[in-house]
Amino acid sequence: MSQLHHLLTFPTRPVTEDYVTKLKKLLASGIPATYTLEQVAAFEKNGTDEVSESASNTTPLHILARSLPLDLSEDETSTVLTMMDTLFEYGAGWNFIDYEDKTVVDLLVERGQKKSGVLYQRVVDAGVSAELLLRKLNGGEIEFLESPQEEEEAVVADDSTASNQQDAEDAVVADDSTASNQQVYLNTKLEYNDNALVTKQNRDGVMMDWETNIMELAANTICLQNTPELTVLNIGFGMGIIDTFISSHSPHKHYICEAHPDVLAKMRADGWYDRPNVVILEGRWQDTLNTLLDQGSIFFDGIYYDTFSEHYNDMLDLYDLVVGLLKPDGVFSFFNGLGADRPLCYDVYNKIVALDLQDYGLNYQYTTVSVPTDKQWHSVKRSYFNSNYYYHPSIQFR
Ligand SMILES: C[S@@+](CC[C@H](N)C(=O)[O-])C[C@H]1O[C@@H](n2cnc3c(N)ncnc32)[C@H](O)[C@@H]1O
Repeated sequence: MSQLHHLLTFPTRPVTEDYVTKLKKLLASGIPATYTLEQVAAFEKNGTDEVSESASNTTPLHILARSLPLDLSEDETSTVLTMMDTLFEYGAGWNFIDYEDKTVVDLLVERGQKKSGVLYQRVVDAGVSAELLLRKLNGGEIEFLESPQEEEEAVVADDSTASNQQDAEDAVVADDSTASNQQVYLNTKLEYNDNALVTKQNRDGVMMDWETNIMELAANTICLQNTPELTVLNIGFGMGIIDTFISSHSPHKHYICEAHPDVLAKMRADGWYDRPNVVILEGRWQDTLNTLLDQGSIFFDGIYYDTFSEHYNDMLDLYDLVVGLLKPDGVFSFFNGLGADRPLCYDVYNKIVALDLQDYGLNYQYTTVSVPTDKQWHSVKRSYFNSNYYYHPSIQFR
């Protein structure tokens, strides 16, 4: 094992400044802060530290986190924090997955560190900085926090910019991108079953009823203003779960924006078009809400956003409309599945959203609620939410 890796196993106690001095010396001598256990193993086996792309990356930070003493004192914690700062300064990555499929924060939690603690938050902050920097380098394009599978899909989606229905249908057959390419999604057939709305061909879960409690909470949040004039907007009907909860607040006006023809057909069949206080905005919110904004006569007490096959870039575009359509004391909320594949990514996204909303004069607050762990993914191809807790957002002007 390299000297660097050995040092990070905390062979002696207490953890004093001496650790920082030794760490800096090793890194300054040219040992990369990213040098993984897998590279060491490859070097010992083949004389070269080249590893296959699919190999895990057990980085120095993983070794530090895995070896962290359980009885770390306050002074030692601050020394470990300086060691982490040093590793990040020398280019350590924040989001690598080790041989046990764990991130650094997964290991920190196993070693008794709290989510709110400085060591956990140091990794989250490194993630936020890295992602904001990446966004700048990409000229504002946001490509971050995608799992390898999503990345593959995104590439495929780029190839399949369907310009007409036939292309789109072909693309659905040829690839798998209904979850990442909106044009393909809007041209694919949907199917309602007992507990879910899915794409017919690929069985991508568009909406599932395990989210019912979240939708009830969201309806209560956006219907917060207890006024007889209550006017709310829901973007994305799906299974109509949130709209049913919104109805129970008897809003004066209940706008629903929906783009998919199969969903609109279901709304018609279920009588949503016949409700006197309901206004259906047919089409993508990107088109319909601008028209509403231009009219300049409708403002909302609450806006909820939960669509499918959109990306964080779309949400940034939506913020522009939200600030124009929300009443001064109105509430905006959204289905918060951003980065929910892993606790670390979920926390990084949560901070990035708060920072972005700040730029719009909006204040992001959230409550943490638990969600069922027995979510029934059998009717869909893969899960889209892998956390047993949910950060429920409530956003208002400051
Ligand atoms: C996850 S579902 C919404 C579920 C809903 N919150 C509920 O309680 O059942 C997403 C919905 O957004 C719709 N959608 C996707 N993109 C859209 C867009 N750009 N504009 C409007 N609706 C969109 C989808 O067709 C789908 O019906």
